[in-house]
Amino acid sequence: MRFSKATLLAVVANTVQAQRPDSTSICDYYTTALLKDNTADNQATLLTLVVNTVVIGNYTQPNVGIMVPGILAPGQFDGTDVDLLPYFNGELASSNRGGDEGVSINFLDGGGAEPLMKNMPANDDSSTQYFLLTHLYQFFGALLGCSMQGMPGFDIYDGEASIYEVHKFMALGPNELGYFITQVGLAAASFGVADSDVQAVGMALNSLFGFRCAPPATVIESQGPQLQAICIEETCPIAENSVCDSYEPIVEPDLVSSTSSISATQTASNSVSSPSTTSAPTGTSGTGSMTPTETSSNAASSSTSIPVAGAGTNGVGLGAVAGGIAAFLLW
Ligand code: HEM
Ligand SMILES: *[C@@H]1O[C@H](CO)[C@@H](O)[C@H](O)[C@H]1NC(C)=O
Repeated sequence: MRFSKATLLAVVANTVQAQRPDSTSICDYYTTALLKDNTADNQATLLTLVVNTVVIGNYTQPNVGIMVPGILAPGQFDGTDVDLLPYFNGELASSNRGGDEGVSINFLDGGGAEPLMKNMPANDDSSTQYFLLTHLYQFFGALLGCSMQGMPGFDIYDGEASIYEVHKFMALGPNELGYFITQVGLAAASFGVADSDVQAVGMALNSLFGFRCAPPATVIESQGPQLQAICIEETCPIAENSVCDSYEPIVEPDLVSSTSSISATQTASNSVSSPSTTSAPTGTSGTGSMTPTETSSNAASSSTSIPVAGAGTNGVGLGAVAGGIAAFLLW
């Protein structure tokens, strides 16, 4: 699938008009719209649905007819081929574990796509996959303004504070970040999030993480201002008020020899191909959507159908996301 800069923020234009009041965050709005009760559990479920879709592509039924390839699938951005899988399956020594260069880690070690299709982060609670996915739910929950985060059912983000430090050995450029953000937008849109909200999220992500040498910014209140740039390659646009001296020289990740990464690679490719080559997970096909209440109570442990507000009467989608993001644009 081809994406371009021009389509990044407008790629999904078929959604309903936003009805979200400015005072309601994107997270709160779409939790209520899709899962009915605005509880910590349901906010965690919303983030699970969206992040899992970002990672493996659309897997829930029904959907509003938007195909989401997911960040593990190869694609294009701005006419350039993008393939993020090698950063996740151990093929590249691109993970920061505190040394002077990156190390190889297979982040698909908790069952790969299979548990994600059941609305879970992993098949266990100790794999690197488990920590990556749960940290993504938490981090994006904060970005989207989830008001119940911190209550039992949805923990506050407790991963690395500096998103630059997390990604620095990946040496990512604008096409890689653009592809990732496009998948976030498509995933949101696939659940019916309003176009205006999708665009607000995309713009906020781009301004927070898309400029090299960006000055410290606060994403997680308790973590304070941190270096956040993910796009750090030369070709990334430079930030206003740039602080290039605070960033280290770019270290390109090494390709790990195929012999030592056979299992990681096989796991990844098997996992990644499954969403597109198999039918929907058990329980998601057919016409009988679960009710919102059933969905919220079951989503953490089983595959579910979620009631998606399409171009229909509810007039909702992931649009609520913009509320949380708007707060970010103020710093
Ligand atoms: C909007 C853009 C992005 C955001 C907000 C984001 C956010 C995050 C967060 C919160 C974590 C977890 C950190 C932790 O567990 O301490 C993470 C990890 C990771 N991200 Fe991103 N990310 C983005 C883009 C990307 C892109 C474009 C790639 C491309 C390969 C990527 C690859 C990874 C990998 C491989 C990890 C695991 C790193 C590790 O545990 O060492 N991310 N990201
Ligand atoms: C993903 O969405 C597309 C477009 O609606 C649909 O044709 C496809 O069946 C979906 N894939 C899954 C696994 O649900």
